[in-house]
Amino acid sequence: MMKSLSLVCLFIFQLFSTNAQTMNNNKTLIIYFSHSGNTKQIAEWVQGKINTGIVLIEPEIPYPSGYQQTIDEMSRQNKGKILPSFKKVDVNIQDYDTIFFGYPVWDMRLPPVVRTFLRDNDFSGKTILPFNSHAGYGTGKSVSEIKEFAPKAKVADAFSIKDSNVKDAKKEVERWINQMFE
Ligand SMILES: Cc1cc2nc3c(=O)[nH]c(=O)nc-3n(C[C@H](O)[C@H](O)[C@H](O)COP(=O)(O)O)c2cc1C
Repeated sequence: MMKSLSLVCLFIFQLFSTNAQTMNNNKTLIIYFSHSGNTKQIAEWVQGKINTGIVLIEPEIPYPSGYQQTIDEMSRQNKGKILPSFKKVDVNIQDYDTIFFGYPVWDMRLPPVVRTFLRDNDFSGKTILPFNSHAGYGTGKSVSEIKEFAPKAKVADAFSIKDSNVKDAKKEVERWINQMFE
């Protein structure tokens, strides 16, 4: 009798444990942009943990591969208030409740193509959980820009990692996700 009671208790504990190895929530989606792979790595760890769909934001005209050329192109777009188009993706944000939303911090802001993606999709009523990587200067104005371009969404504080720390950050990413689902 005691043994079966303990088993039932263990089952209930495991059911509600926020440290479950993987979570599966088909009302949750991951969306990210990454130019040199750091944010992509974080996005893949998020996906490994919550086991849900993942959408990549890709500019129709790719940013250059060289660092300085990318800075120049970003500056040109920022100065000209240019919002570059992105490759069409077959997703309806309204089918989801919670969006993990990843990007590198560029010029202390969102990359221009990420702003375009927010402008052209309907995030109203959704909860956005931003995550980003950066070179040491942090999130900057990027979260306020998410709020500006998705004004009817609820936007959490960003989870943010310095680029040189990304490779060792898997556990930190998993802890953050656990907190988000507590
Ligand atoms: C065009 C450009 C602008 C950047 N601007 C910033 C910045 O303002 N602040 C910062 O901390 N890092 C900045 N970085 C560094 C990136 O945010 C950082 O390396 C990030 O991890 C890159 O992510 P990714 O590999 O997913 O593209 C910039 C990098 C590029 C290419």
